Amino acid sequence: MSTRLATAKAVIALGSNLGDRRANLETALARLAREPGVRVLAASSWHETDPVGGPPGQARYLNGVAQLETELSPRALLTCLLQLERLAGRERQGQPRNGARRLDLDLLFHGDARLSEPGLELPHPRLEDRSFVLEPLCELEPERVLGRSGLCVRAQLSKLTSSASQTQAGTPAPAAVSTPIVRLDSPAAAAQWCRDARAAGRSVGFVPTMGALHVGHLELVRRSARENDLTVASVFVNPLQFNDPRDFARYPRDFDGDTALLSGAGASMVFTGTLEQFFPGGLTPEGRLAEALWLEPGPSAEGLEGKHRPGHFRGVATIVGRLFDTVEPQRAYFGQKDFQQSLVVKDLARSRGRPEIVVCPTSREVSGLARSSRNQLLSAPERERAAALFAALCEARDAWLAGERGAEALDRLLAASLAESEVEVEYAEVRDPERWSATSCSGPLLRAVALVAARVGTTRLIDNLRLDEPIGGVR
Ligand code: PAF
Repeated sequence: MSTRLATAKAVIALGSNLGDRRANLETALARLAREPGVRVLAASSWHETDPVGGPPGQARYLNGVAQLETELSPRALLTCLLQLERLAGRERQGQPRNGARRLDLDLLFHGDARLSEPGLELPHPRLEDRSFVLEPLCELEPERVLGRSGLCVRAQLSKLTSSASQTQAGTPAPAAVSTPIVRLDSPAAAAQWCRDARAAGRSVGFVPTMGALHVGHLELVRRSARENDLTVASVFVNPLQFNDPRDFARYPRDFDGDTALLSGAGASMVFTGTLEQFFPGGLTPEGRLAEALWLEPGPSAEGLEGKHRPGHFRGVATIVGRLFDTVEPQRAYFGQKDFQQSLVVKDLARSRGRPEIVVCPTSREVSGLARSSRNQLLSAPERERAAALFAALCEARDAWLAGERGAEALDRLLAASLAESEVEVEYAEVRDPERWSATSCSGPLLRAVALVAARVGTTRLIDNLRLDEPIGGVR
């Protein structure tokens, strides 16, 4: 009987609590990617959770999920997963139920298949009760509707998370991975919460966001949670930084789902607000921000994004300044994906003497595509085409490693690589990151960052890569 089918999208869960857990999971993914008839489309970040059931004293698990594209039937894919578990050194026979394991692979979904066969039930029967599966799944497929509850992944996760945080003292808590989070609907309330935290001697790390959170944001939150006593996140789709009202209107929004994800990643408080609440009494009758309240960004705002999105960095500087005034954090965390924004924000913080700005590596999907809230707007073929941005940056990096130091030659290389793809390029340039200037660099570069912006369909994406540093963040 043939095990090959038309292509289906499958989702698997991965877990490990024995040995080098991260290596076990990453090796499994890499092996899976080499299996004939299987392609790994995307993987969540790894989430650490307590074991559920099983013998006492077990180590904590690392869990994640991955999306696959496969020509294998559900049964053939399951066989392949069991084989990978064996390769990782797992014995199923004679082991205690829910005992420690190097690798646990579960098939969650296989296209629309609904199956109830010995050893193979689809969708996975316990999936909806497991926050340790829903939390990573929410990073990749927040809107997927679940068959039993009829809720989408985000909503089911919110439900599990809130019932976990409402659990009475003395009642055993379900396997919640999330810390309860304080959710505030106004900047004034957030400012008071932060004042109280500082008065209690707690250090505050801050992750400003526009919501529609993805793994990249959660990595910033986790880093902040490691480096500060408390982590605060803001979710505000800032109208001041959109030069195109249609772009503002279609920007994805989901405060409830974002709150669940932030909670899981270790944030202590999340707040939002309206433009009027951020700038009380500061709007004109037409609803525009009064001229005197805008902050002007420094010279880092010139060129590239500044040129293609006029007024964008003025809007970013203005809201980030107001957010810093609200939270008064010790440290604020930004992603390197928005490279030029990180320069603008560093200028702003320098001019005020605080906070410390921490720029974290770009988080990438398996294809190399930089994670962005806008990726949600891409269709499956567009997502494939979007991988051309990172491919072009890697070509520039290869040329750098081979000794090329001329900005113009590197620019030409980027252009040639992107010309072969199906993306509409806005800019593709190499610059000295420490001598940012509107004009292109002359003479050999000592340091270099390659930056691109392109439209894939109607979605505008940006990405960049330091040519002179190791690549980080690719899973
Ligand atoms: O990077 C973003 O999401 C936004 O530009 C920021 C920093 C939250 C300001 O609105």
